[in-house]
Amino acid sequence: MRRGYAIACALFAAAWPGFAQDALAQDVMRGHGGPVRALAVSGAALISGSFDSTVIVWDLDRGVAKRVLRFHEGPVNAVAVLDKGCFASGGEDKKVALWCEDREMPVYVLKDHEAPVTSLASSAAGFPDGVALGLVSASFDGTVRDSVFGTGGRQMIVMKHKGAVTAIASTPDRKGVISAGPDGALAFTNLDAGGGWGPLPGQVTITALAVAPDGEIVAACADGNVRLHSALGAMTAEIELDGTPLSSLALSPDDKLIATAGLRGGIAIIDRASRKIVHRMTGPGLPVWSLVFDTDSRTLISGGADRVIRKWDAIEGKALTSALPERDIVAEAVASGERGARVFRACQACHTLSPDDGNRAGPTLHGIFGRRIGTATGYAYSEALPKMGIVWNRETIARLFEIGPNAYTPGTKMPEQTITDAADRQALVEWLERVTASR
Ligand code: HEC
Repeated sequence: MRRGYAIACALFAAAWPGFAQDALAQDVMRGHGGPVRALAVSGAALISGSFDSTVIVWDLDRGVAKRVLRFHEGPVNAVAVLDKGCFASGGEDKKVALWCEDREMPVYVLKDHEAPVTSLASSAAGFPDGVALGLVSASFDGTVRDSVFGTGGRQMIVMKHKGAVTAIASTPDRKGVISAGPDGALAFTNLDAGGGWGPLPGQVTITALAVAPDGEIVAACADGNVRLHSALGAMTAEIELDGTPLSSLALSPDDKLIATAGLRGGIAIIDRASRKIVHRMTGPGLPVWSLVFDTDSRTLISGGADRVIRKWDAIEGKALTSALPERDIVAEAVASGERGARVFRACQACHTLSPDDGNRAGPTLHGIFGRRIGTATGYAYSEALPKMGIVWNRETIARLFEIGPNAYTPGTKMPEQTITDAADRQALVEWLERVTASR
């Protein structure tokens, strides 16, 4: 698993060299060390899951990473927001983790799936309101499972397909789930009362599903088409895109817009009522692996192979540029041509430089030179870090990003990333030494 991931990252890094320091003023969130595979919005927070095996919780407005959660032993394929401020992540490691409050480790882990978890959905079935949490999970093992946490917990298989379940979505009342099996076989399961329909014979693999408030089922398909189905599963419309497999789908909260993207094409915005493609957005950050709308039904968020999360205006059909005037020390240094500051943009979402700005997902780097690893005050390190004997200086920080955090500091929760150019590493540590010095 680890090896496969490392190879995938090397490939992506090689394929998208220029985008590490993109020229556009697009609002981007940098932090993941691998393609961003899954996204979900929870109030003002964005949750992202990546091939780098981490989940990051972002402050969506400020674009900074609040927490890095490292638990999965392989790519994170799915994330879903649940009730009570909790969310779930599902991985290639067959596990589903339930995260609540600001805990550093999952409050519950489901290990029943026998193959990678492909998709997750929130449910509100089978328990009195407010007592427990419901979650539906799907896997390559062919099962759809319904789990309830909080009242002792239970889990059961609610649907069995004849092969991999590639996507699920809950119905608007969250008391039912639509699932897609081999060749796009659709099924509906009533989670409260039991029963349902399907699997109905399909034509082509469905890679992502959404259900609109009126019950209409939206499916992104491997042949590059979006298909719409009635609440009973009958196909009602087929929207042809560019013939390359679609990998992601999002429905705006006001249910007017459908966004979809593939591993080769750009992002398409479809007006659900007219079934017309209203925008096609292309640019850096493609191919896209994941999409989600913000609560305003206008801001579309994409996660790409370039490891970066981007924001788009789905109504205007263009990249969103930052509204905040960037006046911080990093932006100024970048503007004045400082190479080390430019490299540091890959770190900025997680690390601040001055004592006043405090900790983000990672500890402040203020005073890092001469500091022993794992000793910044008020920061909750992973268990592994404080046990190591490293003292940070130019050489050790350069080494950290020459061989990567996983190799240099095993057990770290910092997402895997390397800086391949020795001159970039040198510029970074020289600049860091200047700007992190205690004044
Ligand atoms: C997605 C967030 C994220 C990004 C991006 C990131 N880091 Fe980190 N970093 C962390 C986290 C989290 C830790 C703490 C690791 C732990 O506790 O296991 C950390 C730890 C560190 C440490 C050790 C700090 C100490 O007090 O011992 C250094 C040094 C560091 N990072 C430098 C960098 C640099 C330089 C970059 C950019 C090239 C970078 N990081 C990018 C999240 C990040």
